[in-house]
Amino acid sequence: MKIAILPGDGIGPEIIAQAVKVLKVLDLPLEMETALVGGAGYAAHGHPLPESTLKLAKQADAVLFGAVGDWQYDSLERSLRPEQAILGLRKNLNLFANLRPAILYPELAGASTLKPEIVSGLDILIIRELTGDIYFGKPRGVRVATDGEFVGDREGFDTMRYAESEIRRIAHVAFQAAGKRSKRLTSVDKANVLETFQFWKDILIDVHNEYPDITLEHMYVDNAAMQLIRAPKKFDVIVTGNMFGDILSDAAAMLTGSIGMLPSASLDAKNKGLYEPSHGSAPDIAGKGIANPLATILSAAMMLRYTFSLPQEADRIEAAVKKVLASGLRTADIHVEGTTRVGTEEMGNAVVQMLN
Ligand code: IPM
Ligand code: MG
Repeated sequence: MKIAILPGDGIGPEIIAQAVKVLKVLDLPLEMETALVGGAGYAAHGHPLPESTLKLAKQADAVLFGAVGDWQYDSLERSLRPEQAILGLRKNLNLFANLRPAILYPELAGASTLKPEIVSGLDILIIRELTGDIYFGKPRGVRVATDGEFVGDREGFDTMRYAESEIRRIAHVAFQAAGKRSKRLTSVDKANVLETFQFWKDILIDVHNEYPDITLEHMYVDNAAMQLIRAPKKFDVIVTGNMFGDILSDAAAMLTGSIGMLPSASLDAKNKGLYEPSHGSAPDIAGKGIANPLATILSAAMMLRYTFSLPQEADRIEAAVKKVLASGLRTADIHVEGTTRVGTEEMGNAVVQMLN
């Protein structure tokens, strides 16, 4: 059970330290090795995803990832920016299935910007395809247009594309996930405008034949964005492409009040996975000891559940987090009147204490 620990930039090292602490008290035969990634990788080795880091990630059974990105690297050329580290890991490790749960803990209902009755009890799962779509499609770049209304003008361009097998494999992940929950799946597309997503929809309908007990619904992405805000509890499992999933998962995260609470898993076909909090590196609060480590701790729980098939250990961590919230401890991002404000390390220690 080898884990590559990649803390990254900003608050990454602080939150990862808490998750590692939690994993250690479980007393499992875990082997952990740390490496630099993102801006930290660039600073030390001249690349956001150094060769040695990629090698470690490939050898490991799972990757626990903090966050990448810092303002000081924003002016670098695209291929050297910290974000390339996470994109490169997803592509190189074939982590095509991104699971992003959005769960509202009852204790945090007041933290949402939506009315409590709209969000209380929210528990949805967004499954985002992660290695295709316009994110990776080629060709892409800037060129001089040789046709169309703006011929001779410079233009930026990207390519949206999905192979049939790519759609099929994420569809299977989604139908199976729905089978373990409410047996309802919403596929989000833009089939009314885009060829790629008409094709996506056709393949989803075909794969559905293999899962007759699941109810499949199709929704255009604009409508899905609206419904997520209007009546989020009507959803259970959502499956969509890389770009729509990027956008909708941020919206879903905010329904719960704090992106600081949400873990994520990115899996390959054999359940090797990269686990990371849904939030970013938050350079504005880095080093202050105030970041919320719970999304990372919950990501470690997902790792035990999906890669190491240790659901009971995962449950234990999740239960400890719930107890800590019930006890009234809050980091700054979820703090409200009447609760006790704590820092990153105190929050990690509290989870450890609840585990014992
Ligand atoms: C995410 C992030 C990444 C993405 C960025 C950092 C490349 O927004 O994981 O959602 O767009 O996939
Ligand atoms: Mg995103």
